[in-house]
Amino acid sequence: MSKARRPIPMPNLTVSPLTPSVYAVQWIDGACVLLDQTRLPREEVYLRCTSYLQVVDAITTLAVRGAPAIGIAGAFAVALAARESLSLPKADSTEKLKFFEKAVASIMQARPTAVNLAWAVKRVVSEVGSLDEDTVETLVKHAKNIHEEDILANQKMASFGASLLELNSKVITYCNTGDLATGGVGTAFGVLREAHRQKKISVVYPCETRPVMQGSRLTSWECHRNQIPFSVICDNMAGSVMGNEKIAAVFVGADRIAANGDAANKVGTYSLAIVAKYHRVPFYVVAPSSTFDLKTASGRQILIEQRSPREIAGALGVNQPNYPLGDINPAFDVTPADLITAIVCDKGIIAPNAIAEWF
Ligand code: MRU
Repeated sequence: MSKARRPIPMPNLTVSPLTPSVYAVQWIDGACVLLDQTRLPREEVYLRCTSYLQVVDAITTLAVRGAPAIGIAGAFAVALAARESLSLPKADSTEKLKFFEKAVASIMQARPTAVNLAWAVKRVVSEVGSLDEDTVETLVKHAKNIHEEDILANQKMASFGASLLELNSKVITYCNTGDLATGGVGTAFGVLREAHRQKKISVVYPCETRPVMQGSRLTSWECHRNQIPFSVICDNMAGSVMGNEKIAAVFVGADRIAANGDAANKVGTYSLAIVAKYHRVPFYVVAPSSTFDLKTASGRQILIEQRSPREIAGALGVNQPNYPLGDINPAFDVTPADLITAIVCDKGIIAPNAIAEWF
């Protein structure tokens, strides 16, 4: 386990100059504009959401996904909900407020595991007192602040994380954690981009990430755009690759980190951490402050989203109408703190058992 306990002093940090090559979430001309990730890598199509329900739908169908990105989208959805409630025909102020509160609850519940969604929604809602003409503008302003803070947090994590690698390293990553999953250059993927800029990457092995292939569809797309050498591996190849290649480290993101350092991330992360431990490959979780949930004592209390088992059948590429679908499809799993070498956060590099000292 890493001995890192105290923040790396900020003056020593040169914040990464990298900027996103694409934006997953934007606010343009009064609408929340989302890059539809269900259609990547085949086509780059943007969804223009003018109602909060369109954003909720985009979050639940994974058109927008990744913990920080859904937080930012959720914050903009609150602004849309306020605008809709204010323009309800023939509604009095109580009815408008009721509509708004119901909308906020449904935005927060769109996906349960990533704490960033509820965190961002609560934060923007706490900035408004009553519903009036200024409310929408105030909410948009605070949602934009969250987006800008995420961009900077990503750049800091990229620098901290890249400092953990030597020149010409081979690394494994999981799911998608780049521009598409955040407001900025990404969490784990931001580290890889910065390390590549510093000539520290010889190859990235993105795991394909069953069942909906965020690794092979999205991380490969981002590697290609950023000219990072990569070779997609099936999830079940990680042990073989670690056994046969000199892998410098595994970098993954997180959707919620409990007070004891347990980290929820895309299902399969836990197995990857076990394999890394066996092969003595450092296993780093990269996540901004907004992903830490100190109110949750341990990973056991993290609610894991269950999605339709159809996703599993869909990715199999077979269509067997007579076969029963299974009944489980957990979208996330929890990696226990003792499998994590260190957590790279915008505050510094944290030992998983020392989170309380940092927040
Ligand atoms: O179901 P997804 O695609 O939203 O899952 C995304 C992940 O698990 C990421 O690793 C996580 O959000 C952290 S990276 C920004």
